[in-house]
Amino acid sequence: MAEKEISLAVIKRLPKYYRNLGELLENNVERISSKELSERMQVTASQIRQDLNNFGGFGQQGYGYNVEYLHTEIGKILGLTRKYHMIIIGAGNLGQALANYTQFEKNGFVLKAMFDKKQELIGQTIRGVKILNAETMGQYLKEHEVDIAAITIPKENAPTVAMDLVKGGVRAIWNFAPTDLHLPEGVKVENVHLADSLMRLSYNLKNS
Ligand code: NAI
Repeated sequence: MAEKEISLAVIKRLPKYYRNLGELLENNVERISSKELSERMQVTASQIRQDLNNFGGFGQQGYGYNVEYLHTEIGKILGLTRKYHMIIIGAGNLGQALANYTQFEKNGFVLKAMFDKKQELIGQTIRGVKILNAETMGQYLKEHEVDIAAITIPKENAPTVAMDLVKGGVRAIWNFAPTDLHLPEGVKVENVHLADSLMRLSYNLKNS
């Protein structure tokens, strides 16, 4: 399917569609109307139709959506038809929590190694994945293909480590350090800041 330019707002909603459709599939639901899908996802049916029209619709009048087909097509749009090799830099609280979460792997994000500079962590394994010495990261990147690197280290060290990753050929960074990374064009950065989300919650609470 040819893809046209899609707005960021739509792209941001696609993982939610993918997740909901995945749950429906697990429950052996074969098809769903836009009304049912909208109730489940708490967005309007017209929003769903509009969103999916960006990709050619997928639905049929009077039938609704074929869940498996829609799930597969959205997966293709999100690039989930392949496996991604991932590493985590910083095997502290957050790094280990990410490593222990098995769902990422189910979506194709396979954790290959973790790196830390703390002697007592080096050599340990988390769910079978080894924590390697941060000093060996450059060499590791020469020998292994890494698609995505998660940064879960203190913010002071994040910019240098991010540059080392880029020099080693990593083109996608999942940044949890509370700092903006300025990286060469072509490097994709996804910042995750749980505190921002909490602040939005406090705003909503305050204004309710
Ligand atoms: P932590 O102190 O438990 O773990 C950090 C680890 O990074 C330590 O094991 C340390 O040895 C290692 N480290 C430091 N410099 C390194 C380097 N240059 N190379 C390799 N390893 C290095 O800290 P925690 O709680 O896991 O937080 C980690 C980072 O994530 C912090 O920047 C924190 O602010 C951030 N954070 C972000 C959240 C978010 O929503 N984005 C939520 C929680 C934490």
